[in-house]
Amino acid sequence: MCGIVGVVSNKDVNQKLLNGLANLEYRGYDSVGMCFIYNKNFRIKKGVGKLEEVHKKVNFLKFPGNIGIAHCRWSTHGGVTEKNAHPHVDCTNKISVVHNGIIENYSELKVELMKKGHKFNSETDTEVIAHLIEENLKGHKIEDSIKLALKKIEGSYALGILFADEPEKLIAARNESPLIIGIGDNENFIASDVPSILDYTKKIVYLEDREMAVLTKDKVSIFDLDGNLKNKIINIIKWDAAAAQKSGYRHFMLKEIYEQPRAIADTLNERIRNNNVVFEKEFALTNEFLKKIKRIIIVACGTSWHASLVGEFMLEELAKIPVEVEYASEFRYRHPILDKDTLIIAVSQSGETADTIAALKEAKNYGVKTLSICNVMGSSITRISDGVIYTRAGPEIGVASTKAFTTQLAVMYLFTILLSKLKKTLNDKQIKDMIDGIRKIPLQLQSVLDEDGEILKCAELYHQKLNSIYLGRGVNFPIALEGALKLKEVSYIHAEGYPAAEMKHGPIALIDKNMPVVLIAPHDIYTYKKVLGNIEEVKARGGIIIAIATEGDKEIPKKAKHTIFIPKTLYTLSSILAVVPLQLLAYHIADKLGRDIDKPRSLAKTVTVE
Ligand code: F6R
Repeated sequence: MCGIVGVVSNKDVNQKLLNGLANLEYRGYDSVGMCFIYNKNFRIKKGVGKLEEVHKKVNFLKFPGNIGIAHCRWSTHGGVTEKNAHPHVDCTNKISVVHNGIIENYSELKVELMKKGHKFNSETDTEVIAHLIEENLKGHKIEDSIKLALKKIEGSYALGILFADEPEKLIAARNESPLIIGIGDNENFIASDVPSILDYTKKIVYLEDREMAVLTKDKVSIFDLDGNLKNKIINIIKWDAAAAQKSGYRHFMLKEIYEQPRAIADTLNERIRNNNVVFEKEFALTNEFLKKIKRIIIVACGTSWHASLVGEFMLEELAKIPVEVEYASEFRYRHPILDKDTLIIAVSQSGETADTIAALKEAKNYGVKTLSICNVMGSSITRISDGVIYTRAGPEIGVASTKAFTTQLAVMYLFTILLSKLKKTLNDKQIKDMIDGIRKIPLQLQSVLDEDGEILKCAELYHQKLNSIYLGRGVNFPIALEGALKLKEVSYIHAEGYPAAEMKHGPIALIDKNMPVVLIAPHDIYTYKKVLGNIEEVKARGGIIIAIATEGDKEIPKKAKHTIFIPKTLYTLSSILAVVPLQLLAYHIADKLGRDIDKPRSLAKTVTVE
């Protein structure tokens, strides 16, 4: 997925590049590199490993220069080696490129360029870009050479490009990979995301697909690939730079778990008025349209897909609208049957997940209305969709998503209330009960966080186990999936999430005295009794039962080895409370195992390649 940052300034840029990369490292951490121009020469420093390790070896701060580009890599083409680390240069060592994305036709281009005498240094797809520009430079100016190169490459890219001979110019381009421009005082920036440069500027311009930008320290010009100048809006970002710091927590994941009461409160703030749900103007969908919707399809990936499954449950149960939840990566290659009464919802923390963007675009090809639920203002998904509801989780840096998930559930719940009201599937009293329920959630979350002692005890006892099973039913089946995903991601322990009753159709064979089984069993009128039965089945086979139960439950503690209590709430809202102990359990187990929690192996926060 890779992270990119670049600065052109009237001062040395090394510290800013270093800070920028440190904030972007969640995007990729197998190697890093920087390129500065000093006296019209490149100084390129790179190495394999995380930023801290490479910086210890090369000390990026030793290198002066008022212009530079930097990159942290999540490898796609070519192994994790110093040669494959970015930046990549052309044969003359005059063009230097950092890239996030995938050049799909790079093999053909490479053969073509090699025939023309170009020598390649790496196995990456990126290097062809430097050589292509070099080739075009033979008859064209720099900007035109880049435009021609971009017209020839197929695939996704966010690029930062330097020319040794033009040391006052930083060039950027994007297609289907995120890239933003930051406007500073006597300096300008490019970056893969907003938080990486928030310390230096809050003025952001979003590059669109197939746009290119030329930055000097005091000017930014943006063009399309035919050279037409584009008029762009400068967005003022409200996020505070401190929100993207660890604030005394050992890991971002822990900080973000603990931020959930605040994140949910912010997500609700000003959206509930006189027992009505009111979204801001970006929501953009009219009541007239919403009343007509006959079907909803939700597209998402990973944790956001789990949130969508909870959304499906809420919307069908309460607003009585048929909902399908699709993996965005599957939806994009199907030929869905869509009509004008279908609403497509894309759910994404980052707003930059390649498959979710592609699924949205596929839906738009059918002319259907689209809504996104997203955490990052101005991200690609929000710009493509007709309407947006922002989760207000604030920057989520930990690779394992936590507060974004619970705020997605809160937004799904608010949207369900809105639709239930418009479609008159619930009466005023029911709507009021729903609103009262969600208003209590921030405080109730705080009390779930206070259960951390018992969760830590489970982590101490079971962090050496090699497998585990998570079971839930109804609205809490997706929570079982999410709990298992969190554990896999940060601890590397194998975990399976299942609907509790489905256990009998296979996974039960795995249960013995070495198997921790996490059962999500809040007290409800729907499935509680059935889950009690499932607990007995696990117990009969010697499984180690860790149960999530409602405060005051007398039955479950008799059967489970450990019981973690969540406050009483409405059934649909139990999912928001139940997931938190599972996030903490994954965190503590990973911590006991000494895992790199904020940068788990092979993962990247934003999956901008398909
Ligand atoms: C898991 C996780 C991923 C993301 C997925 C989608 O903890 O973070 O599974 O949920 O990559 O990302 P977004 O929501 O940014 O589209």
